[in-house]
Order: sequence, then structure tokens, then C-alpha cells
Amino acid sequence: MQFDFTKLPPADRYRLLTNFIGPRPIALVTTRSPGGHDNAAPMSFFNVFAHEPPIVIIGFSARPNGSEKDTLTNIRRTKEFCVNMVDMELAEQMILCGVNFNSDVDELEFAGLVAAPCRKIDAARIATTPCAMETRVEQIIDYPGRAIVMGRVLEMHVRDDCLDAAGRYVDPAAYQPIARLHADNYIVSDRQFELKKPAHLEPLEVGHVQPAHMETR
Ligand SMILES: Cc1cc2nc3c(=O)[nH]c(=O)nc-3n(C[C@H](O)[C@H](O)[C@H](O)COP(=O)(O)O)c2cc1C
Repeated sequence: MQFDFTKLPPADRYRLLTNFIGPRPIALVTTRSPGGHDNAAPMSFFNVFAHEPPIVIIGFSARPNGSEKDTLTNIRRTKEFCVNMVDMELAEQMILCGVNFNSDVDELEFAGLVAAPCRKIDAARIATTPCAMETRVEQIIDYPGRAIVMGRVLEMHVRDDCLDAAGRYVDPAAYQPIARLHADNYIVSDRQFELKKPAHLEPLEVGHVQPAHMETR
């Protein structure tokens, strides 16, 4: 089947894009409301796009009635947000945060999530998340009813058990993030496997340099 995206209605484009681009990692984004309430919302239009500078990107759509989501409104005001990664232990709480509550609802409290202070930004992080990233806005690109937010990571909090003894690499048995597939379907990364480029092809690689400081894991 062919789908002409220049003619397809937005709802169909959403269905096809989210059905086939997955699994998508989930950022449980925490922000602070003007009244000081802790807001949390899951976002799966999310990923990392650079490490120097360390850039993450989140795509926002409006609520069904066209109003802006609290997370985006808070981000526009404070220019700050925290990305909390989600594993199975946080799955049920994450989905509660996906309810479009009023801005005066403390969503961390509602979902039974424990808040911890951030060090560099005015937002709470989730104490039990495997990994939280304090982030400052670099750029917001606005489209009618949508916005793409680029954030620069300022600080990362990693739960101790998620790293190896040397504190360098992730422990894949401990850190198993969930990700969103199509509609209400999710997947957990509990079937990981290693896949390496054949070493004998290395000399054929154009521009190949392995500087001492550059790690590929
Ligand atoms: C797993 C999951 C992923 C989501 N991803 C997005 C997303 O990428 N962008 C978006 O605008 N809304 C997304 N949503 C919907 C928001 O989380 C939802 O509208 C939320 O209530 C917004 O809360 P807020 O008004 O407190 O910001 C997602 C919901 C779920 C459950």
C-alpha cells in the first residue's frame, strides 16, 4: 500500500507514523506550574539527537480541544524541564500522568510518585526513576497546534544500581526501559542482544578514526 503524506489527513499520518516508528522511548517530563505544582507528562515523541552539545528533543501536540498542554506552557515560562526515563516499575504511574489533568493538580502526588529536588533547574525529578536529566531549553520551534522543544541536558542523575561497579556502563539487567509501540502497546527492553560490525571491515570505513576519548558503547 502507498500513502501520500502530502494529501493524507493529519490523523492518518499520526496513525501510520506512530504505528511504524517504534519502539519510541518515553520521557516522563516533569515541570513546575506557576502555582508551584509539580507537573508530569509522558512524551514518546522524544529522543536524544546529539551529545556535544547534549540535545534531547520532544514533540508536543495540542489537547483534543486545541489547548496547549501544561508541560509545554510550563516549559515556555521556566525554560526548564526534567526528563525521567521510565521502566516497568514506573509504567502504571506513567500512564496516570498521561491524563490531561488541570494545571493545579500535583501530578506526581496524584500518581504516587516520589519527588526529589533538581540541582540546576526549577522542577522536581522522580526519585525512583533509573535516570533523570535536568534540561534547559535551547530552542522551541512552533507549528500551528504543535511545538518541537530542543533541550540541552545540564545534569544527569542515574540510580546507582543501573550502572556497573565502575560507574561507567549501564547494567542491562537492571536498566530495562519501556517504550511505546502503536496505540496502547508498549515493549520492555528485557531481550537485549549484542550486534557488532565485523572487525575485518574496519579498514574499509571512510573517515574512520577511534580517538581515545570516544567510546562507542
Ligand atoms: C506513553 C505516552 C506518550 C505520549 N507522548 C506524547 C508526546 O510525545 N507528545 C504529546 O504532546 N503528548 C503525548 N502524550 C500525551 C500526554 O502525555 C498527555 O496529553 C498529558 O496529559 C499532558 O499532560 P500536561 O497537560 O500535564 O502536559 C503521551 C501519552 C502517553 C501515555
